Amino acid sequence: MTYDVVVLGAGAAGLMAAASAGQKGASVLVLDHGPEPGRKILISGGGRCNFTHLETGPNCFISQNKHFARSALARYTPRDFVKLVDHYRIAWHEKSKGQLFCDGSARQIVDMLISECQAADCEARMQTRILDVRSDGNGFVVQTDAGDVQARSVILATGGLSIPKLGASDLSLRIAKSFGLKIVPTAPALVPLVLADADPSLAGVSLNVVATTGKKGPRFEDGMVFTHRGVSGPAILQISSYLEAGKSAQIDLLPGKDALKMLLEIKQARPKALPPSLLDALPSRLAKELVVDLGDTMLANQPDKKLRALADRLSRWEISPSGTEGYAKAEVMRGGIDTSGLSSQTMEARDVPGLYAIGEAVDVTGWLGGHNFQWAWSSGVAAGQAA
Ligand code: FDA
Repeated sequence: MTYDVVVLGAGAAGLMAAASAGQKGASVLVLDHGPEPGRKILISGGGRCNFTHLETGPNCFISQNKHFARSALARYTPRDFVKLVDHYRIAWHEKSKGQLFCDGSARQIVDMLISECQAADCEARMQTRILDVRSDGNGFVVQTDAGDVQARSVILATGGLSIPKLGASDLSLRIAKSFGLKIVPTAPALVPLVLADADPSLAGVSLNVVATTGKKGPRFEDGMVFTHRGVSGPAILQISSYLEAGKSAQIDLLPGKDALKMLLEIKQARPKALPPSLLDALPSRLAKELVVDLGDTMLANQPDKKLRALADRLSRWEISPSGTEGYAKAEVMRGGIDTSGLSSQTMEARDVPGLYAIGEAVDVTGWLGGHNFQWAWSSGVAAGQAA
């Protein structure tokens, strides 16, 4: 039999594409090498799946073409996904502005997607190794360890490289490349940063910060936590996606405050106090580290020059990561299949009719907060309806 659509990857994007293709009457087969569908969904959002962000838009994504995601996101929106979630009576809540999570468990989202696929008569074969895909004139032959499968269209949806222990692989990138598509260099993103001078005694200290890559760069105000090897937390994960190797980020440890003004006021108000009391606004373990250079001299005798240097460090702590925690800890992969070779309406390869690429395998990387799943749903629907 020749399937109308063969979807490679039973993850977020692949299941959504399969259900959409099946709903319009296509015969659909989903292939995956893992033991069960949607394994990344199951571990997402701390087990509660941050399944969308109500305020998503192309500006919440990193891509060589910053407009590429616009069309798919506009045609299948966060509200459309919420409608589906509501239809399945899955209770959800808005955790912080725009970020929607299940009240119960991420399993509900996977079960919902499986139900959608079953209702659309999609077939699925798990634990199937995909060896290669080639074109045969009329369509495609997908070679697997269980034999060849014929397809009129193939949707590449095997995701990115993060979390190899959950079966992440570069399959979609390799197949895309074999069909002449370009690949934007890949790197771990939404990933903790490693600092050569990390102080393990600070591990676990957390605070609110603003992380930037400079005046014109993106700006994320959110939590940061010190780790044994560097820094993590939402603000750091967000900025990590923008950091090329060797580049630095600036961290404002006192967001919204004029650090110098604050230090000078404290000096004046409490002249006999010792340096750590300058930083009552920060966690005490961190405050102690930051004022080491001021010694045990009371505030009245601290030269303003030293306070100015401390204020600079507080409002513009420059970090130059020696690396990241890599794909083992990264939430997503940056880069991937170059969007210049794909239609932004349908995700079909411009020069290879019938070949589609969706989800994280494509060079569209979302911010933290549900944007990556929304891209998986939107690109999945776009390809599923067109294939
Ligand atoms: P996805 O990775 O979901 O699916 C790919 C599928 O392809 C998998 O089933 C895999 O087994 C299969 N596959 C891979 N290689 C194969 C091969 N060689 N042969 C056959 N099959 C193969 N995003 C978000 O918006 N909100 C959130 O809360 C979170 N939370 C989160 C937590 C953690 C710990 C991680 C690692 C990631 C997140 N994400 C997230 C990101 C989100 O999980 C991710 O962007 C989407 O799952 C991407 O969907 P895809 O369908 O593209 O890939």
